Amino acid sequence: MRTAEIKRRYLAHFEANGHAVVPSAPLPAISDPNLLFVNAGMVQFVPYFLGQQTPAYQRAVSVQKCLRTPDIDEVGKTSRHGTFFQMNGNFSFGDYFKAGAIPLAWELSTKPVAEGGYGLDPERIWPTIYLDDDEAFEIWRSVGVPAERIVRRGKADNFWSMGIPGPCGPSSELFYDRGPEYGAEGGPAVDEDRYMEYWNLVFMQYERGPGATKEDYPILGDLPAKNIDTGMGLERMASILQGVDNLYEIDEVRPILTRAAELTGKRYGAHSGHVASESHPDDVRLRVIADHVRTALMLIGDGVTPSNEGRGYVLRRIMRRAIRSIRLLGWQDRALPELLPVARDCMSPSYPELATDFDRIADYAYAEEEAFLSTLRAGTTILDTAIAETRTAGGTALSGAKAFQLHDTYGFPIDLTLEIAAEQGLSVDDEGFRRLMADQRTRAKADAQARKTGHVDLSAYRRVLDAHGPTDWQAYQSLDTDSTVLGLLGSDGASTQVAELGEIVGVFLDRTPFYAESGGQHADAGTLTGDSVRADVLDVQRPIKGLVVHQVRITGGTLAVGDRIHAAVDPQWRLGARQAHSGTHVVHAALRHVLGPSALQSGSFNRPGYLRLDFASPSGLSSATRSEVEDVANLAIRDDLPVDARYMTLPEARQIGALALFGETYDDTVRVVDIGGDWSRELCGGTHVDRSAQIGALAITSESSVGAGQRRIEAVTGIEAFRYLARERDLVTNLADQLRAPREELPDRITALVSRAKAAERRAEQLQLQLTREQARALAGSAEDIAGIAFATSTGSADADPRQLAELIRRELPQERRGVVVVANASNGTMRLVIAVNDAAVDRGTSAVHLVKTVLGGRGGGNAGLAQGGQPGGRPDQVVDLVRELLRSAS
Ligand code: ALA
Repeated sequence: MRTAEIKRRYLAHFEANGHAVVPSAPLPAISDPNLLFVNAGMVQFVPYFLGQQTPAYQRAVSVQKCLRTPDIDEVGKTSRHGTFFQMNGNFSFGDYFKAGAIPLAWELSTKPVAEGGYGLDPERIWPTIYLDDDEAFEIWRSVGVPAERIVRRGKADNFWSMGIPGPCGPSSELFYDRGPEYGAEGGPAVDEDRYMEYWNLVFMQYERGPGATKEDYPILGDLPAKNIDTGMGLERMASILQGVDNLYEIDEVRPILTRAAELTGKRYGAHSGHVASESHPDDVRLRVIADHVRTALMLIGDGVTPSNEGRGYVLRRIMRRAIRSIRLLGWQDRALPELLPVARDCMSPSYPELATDFDRIADYAYAEEEAFLSTLRAGTTILDTAIAETRTAGGTALSGAKAFQLHDTYGFPIDLTLEIAAEQGLSVDDEGFRRLMADQRTRAKADAQARKTGHVDLSAYRRVLDAHGPTDWQAYQSLDTDSTVLGLLGSDGASTQVAELGEIVGVFLDRTPFYAESGGQHADAGTLTGDSVRADVLDVQRPIKGLVVHQVRITGGTLAVGDRIHAAVDPQWRLGARQAHSGTHVVHAALRHVLGPSALQSGSFNRPGYLRLDFASPSGLSSATRSEVEDVANLAIRDDLPVDARYMTLPEARQIGALALFGETYDDTVRVVDIGGDWSRELCGGTHVDRSAQIGALAITSESSVGAGQRRIEAVTGIEAFRYLARERDLVTNLADQLRAPREELPDRITALVSRAKAAERRAEQLQLQLTREQARALAGSAEDIAGIAFATSTGSADADPRQLAELIRRELPQERRGVVVVANASNGTMRLVIAVNDAAVDRGTSAVHLVKTVLGGRGGGNAGLAQGGQPGGRPDQVVDLVRELLRSAS
């Protein structure tokens, strides 16, 4: 039975039993900071299980795209581990429980194929249950499973959670006996290769807290209702029903493996028996390639792009493993252009967007392979040398410092260093490597902190926070507040009581209207004023959570702890900041609108009048695309869309599709900023305009590369956009005036001018050459005779290139006679000398380089036929005389 058919039957079975069919969520678990990728069918339903939200249905069925990477090193070695897989699941939210779930699963498993089921032999199915779950035991008995095939197992096997805090519960798993050729008899507890788990029924009824291992975490309490969450591994069911050993051999994966085998000339399964666990390394590699190429396709399809962090790093690692595996099998060329289209053809019947979106996916994938191959070329040489050195020195481990250097200087990934070293029988001082990495991270953090706050020691801030509590932060509500100075921090980082005129100090206030730099938005500017003081606010930071520090310069009087002051944000500054920050969201939405959802922002910065935004894109934007983005942005501004900020929980924000930054961590309550409802919806703490028209205008000023697959767009907003456009207009007016042409004719005029200038240059060069030739002919004609040698000289400061002139003169001298040419001229106090000797003279022992070196006292270079050199303060006619003497005396 084909995979697509297994999927169809699953959905049909549960739909017929009252389940709503829900589409798969995308692979990145975007709004859950604890989870990189969706790893089970239930992930999108977590808020329902926890009772945070009420679903529109009480029963659901889905086929969810999943990714699990903890076992990545096992991929290909056993039949049970793949990275990407699909989980068929049925769910009950407070509706049916064990007595509903078990018969539903039993029926679909055992119903004959002709009647729409999977037709598994009931005698070969072994259910497992949680230790004391007698209720489940009885239900299994009631559908007809004999007691000896119902196995009780402990928490590690039969208690399920996502691995992080959230819903959990005891489970019951279904195993299928694949027969004696796969291993020993005795049920799942004896052999999990022979008895393959294919379906997990979780009786979701508790909420768990954090914990380090699979078994060790606290149960916080009961969920509001008893639920069902099941997961049937689609690939596992496919391998059972297709009668193949493992998931790499099913219809959706095998063609990729076959193509890789063709390319490398390997025959899959040539060396080993049937069972994956006895595999030859070549077969393992072919499976890794097939699995990883499919996973990369699915990940990029869902908007993940390769990078050095978070989800992007997982993708990068998977792609690199695939590329390296095929190289190890002997294929040195680019492999993805051969394999990715095969993966697309396997998967697009279920996921048609993979076909329509393939160009974009392939752009990222091929560019990543290209980049990795050059890293490999550079790194492998260095690593090989290091390995050889380690061996020669009698060592068994590559030093942490070497591994770090490879990583830091050459971008050579540590997992690859480990792998290659292991292949050569060496270990790596992993701990040393990690220590160096940690040191580097600490340094970078301390640097960044020092740049922002002036010093790194945070204890002074903690003391203020402990003494006075968090700053009453009014940035969203008002532009000025009456405040009290709670503390001062001198430039040396020490607390102080008073700051004098001209000093720059850190100021803590009980309450403040100032926005502290965060989320890419620059800090507010403004003033602090009191009866006896005036200070300009230069910067505002939040060095620790809850505490705002203002960096100020005292411009009048003195400031003392306890002073009552008026803190006022410059309203013009704030207006500009709001325009720029809302402008950033508008540009982000416009980019995604024009380029598609993968153009996700990876970083941004904005201050009044200016914004920049980094985003993922495999190539630069054409000027047409750039204009389109600008146009979409300005239309959104013209439409005067309302801008709203709301607070909600993270799952709620995720549910309504708010964009969160990859790799960011968020508090439990998040702020969601909408522009025009869901036209733009982002998690954001910044200050924004009330309606989009207040942005005024937006002009993109540049678009450039900031690393592989990352682009940066810069734009100006509000009055700065008008000023920018006005400057551009003045520039055009100025050019039009100079060229005395109407503006619309400027491009043609300039093109014509440039080509005329080029033609004139070419003509001038030709004329110069003609002149030089004539000059050479004349000089050759007036050559002296020195003991049978034709001796031609030029000492004028000629326009011609001296070397060219010397060669042209030599050519004009009679071939059969010996000839020597000297061209010498001085400019800017330095003499340049070129000597050319013809073949007849060279044959008789005259050497140009010898002559040059003799007259220049050892300087100069060249060969017997042509040589040159320079001499500060040299005199051309003296040099000519010298050469003449040399020739005479040699004859
Ligand atoms: N959520 C359960 C699993 O992933 C069904 O195994």
